Amino acid sequence: MVVFGTRPEAIKMAPLCHRLREQKDIETIICVTAQHREMLDQVLSIFELTPDIDLNVMKKGQDLYDVTSNILLKMRDTLKEEKPDIVIVHGDTTTTFATSLACFYMGVKVGHVEAGLRTHDIHAPFPEEYNRLSTGIIADYHFAPTDLSQKNLLAEGKNKESIIVTGNTVIDALHLVLKTVDADKNKSKDITLRLNERLSFDWKATRFVLITGHRRENFGQGFLDICEAIKELAIKNPDTHFVYPLHLNPNVQKPVNEILLGIDNVWLIEPLEYEDFVYLLKQSYLVLTDSGGIQEEAPSLGKPVLVMRELTERPEAVEAGTVKLVGASRENIIFNIDLLLNDEALYKTMSRAHNPYGDGKACDRIVEYIKGS
Ligand code: UD1
Ligand code: UDP
Repeated sequence: MVVFGTRPEAIKMAPLCHRLREQKDIETIICVTAQHREMLDQVLSIFELTPDIDLNVMKKGQDLYDVTSNILLKMRDTLKEEKPDIVIVHGDTTTTFATSLACFYMGVKVGHVEAGLRTHDIHAPFPEEYNRLSTGIIADYHFAPTDLSQKNLLAEGKNKESIIVTGNTVIDALHLVLKTVDADKNKSKDITLRLNERLSFDWKATRFVLITGHRRENFGQGFLDICEAIKELAIKNPDTHFVYPLHLNPNVQKPVNEILLGIDNVWLIEPLEYEDFVYLLKQSYLVLTDSGGIQEEAPSLGKPVLVMRELTERPEAVEAGTVKLVGASRENIIFNIDLLLNDEALYKTMSRAHNPYGDGKACDRIVEYIKGS
């Protein structure tokens, strides 16, 4: 049984679900918690994936207690009913943690995809670092994306035989989408039309910064500072556009709309479908984000990334020089974006395409391991 609930988990688990469903000797059940609703459904639709079970837990404005307890109770009933041999979870969300806990209580084996990422600070990101640590304690199989994540797990005393380095399945998803779009001219036309409806500037010929942000630890003052920085940059650089597909969380929507709505070269748009987002990412000049997944995708497309966090569990691209941590400080964001917009040599060194997170075959490795276990 594969279980996931949010947008990024769905993107990263979709190619694995397809590979598992192709196997004649494995019965695969796809269970979504729907911790996200609209943003999850967008991904299911793009990847043409129909879940077998939908726990439908999302409530507008839910907190961590709501999500954890609802998933735990619903997973209890689902596990009793379905009796899976193994449950595969992904990453570091509350879906991941609560599902693993339900499996632990029921004595069901757990496989953890994207295992071993660590900042080594339990509060950052919050609550994700705790979620992946606790899932790591419960998991029987750890699918680590990189050598570093394997090293983190070994340092915690995990058995070497229970860890397999697979690459990150996000690269499988990215390859899948790029291949589909490249193979079908009508697809890129449709994407262009959809993006044209949302962006009334020539985004194929004009420099723009692509922005996303949703981290809990940035709520409040952090988001106010981030938005003030974007506002100041937009006013200072009228020829550069700032495109921000807004996460549906009200803690994000409110400050961003209050500070950035109505500025000519700032585009606040709805969450984009994955294909459209990847297409836009390829066209962007640079990325400003606090997202986890985008730190993995952007280096693969040769886009410099400024990460609005103090710490990252994905240091590989920071070490390679294409990702830089800038925190949520207004001055730091303005200083670093200004540098990249004006210093061509620096921009070039940060725009080197590389793939520290995988080769697009992570799902094959996971499926082979599961079949052999
Ligand atoms: C969750 C994950 C985070 C992950 C992020 C990806 C936890 C604790 N957090 O954070 O690790 O990086 O997803 O985006 O697991 N909403 C909608 N529609 C949607 C999705 C969200 O309206 O499709 C709104 C709802 O009001 C919801 C709120 O956003 O209550 C928060 O969603 P939630 O999943 O609790 O937290 P995220 O901040 O999205
Ligand atoms: N993404 C998307 N549409 C958007 C913004 C992001 O499809 O409008 C994708 C992005 O390519 C990445 C994932 O969503 O794969 C990241 O999700 P998010 O930032 O919500 O979560 P995180 O990765 O931080 O957990």
